[in-house]
Amino acid sequence: NIVHVLLSGGVGSRLWPLSRKHSPKQYLGLFDGRSLFEMTVQRNQQVAEKVIVVGNKDNTHLSHKAMVSCGLPYKNIVEATPRNTAAAIAFAAFSVNPDDILIVTPSDHMISGEAEYKKAMEDGVKKAKEGNIVTFGIRPTRPETGYGYIEFDGDEVKSFREKPNQDTAEDFIEKGNFLWNSGMFCFQAAVFLEELRQYEPQVFEKSLAVWKASKDGFLDEQLSLNIPSISVDYAVMERSKKIRVVPTNFEWSDLGSFEALYDYLIKSGYPKDDQGNIVIGTDIFTGFVGLKRAIFVYTKDAFMIIQKEKSQDVKKIYNMLEKHQ
Ligand code: GDD
Ligand code: MG
Repeated sequence: NIVHVLLSGGVGSRLWPLSRKHSPKQYLGLFDGRSLFEMTVQRNQQVAEKVIVVGNKDNTHLSHKAMVSCGLPYKNIVEATPRNTAAAIAFAAFSVNPDDILIVTPSDHMISGEAEYKKAMEDGVKKAKEGNIVTFGIRPTRPETGYGYIEFDGDEVKSFREKPNQDTAEDFIEKGNFLWNSGMFCFQAAVFLEELRQYEPQVFEKSLAVWKASKDGFLDEQLSLNIPSISVDYAVMERSKKIRVVPTNFEWSDLGSFEALYDYLIKSGYPKDDQGNIVIGTDIFTGFVGLKRAIFVYTKDAFMIIQKEKSQDVKKIYNMLEKHQ
């Protein structure tokens, strides 16, 4: 079986205040009434036969509503507390047959080019059946520090570097033989679990214990807290020798930060002033003086003004507010 695993556990803290703990961005009907979550499910129906949603208990009702509106049956894995992507993917892998092929995707990416997408996934599935762990590579357009970078030669992966610093990212862009990691993966369940066991035995063992103790896909909170919180990129992708890359031709945008959202909006013809400043969330006239590429975000209970290039720092405000709640 080919199974689409949809990760929907993050809160999208870098898009605060647009994205909130109880209404993460992937569920907002921002695109002709459809959400990124629903579009992701439908796009993967071109190749996948089943759907598993791995998400947080705070979002279960939102995922359910989205799946109902897609009209598809699905299996639900409900995390009581987020333990990051290595564990989230492990739960999905424990829940299927060892030789099932998993296509793992985030639920918050903007992708256009359905045919190109289908072709990339079919290539991925083929390589996954040969025992590889497949990543889908995107041609980079800027030295973004929020992504993983894949040093490649054909489908060979020379190295995988998660979230490099600014200088390193600039160096990668200059060298030219690097792709962005799209954050989508394809592999046989057993192959992934074997690599996880080898490189992060604690994550493997603690996740397995949590999975074994789960009921109807609901995971226990106390047990889950034993799982080291590490992303799949650091846990497996940077270390495994079985990584292959499928360079892709579809249009991809991770609307995960204000910088990415800004670039996407500007490309789609969103209104800006002559210094490139934009306003999100209101029609109230907003003047910008002495600012360039600033984004003014309005919501009903919080405003934020941010310099596009400083997008990664929004997390700081989010974390500060979390602490003082
Ligand atoms: N279920 C679950 N549980 N999902 C999670 C958890 C968790 O604990 N943590 C994160 N996720 C989900 C997020 O909701 C998102 O859909 C996906 O996993 C990836 O997590 P992010 O937090 O968005 O990762 P990132 O954007 O910093 O980095 C990843 O994606 C980039 C591309 O968008 C990496 O894979 C990078 O290498 C990649 O370039
Ligand atoms: Mg992301």
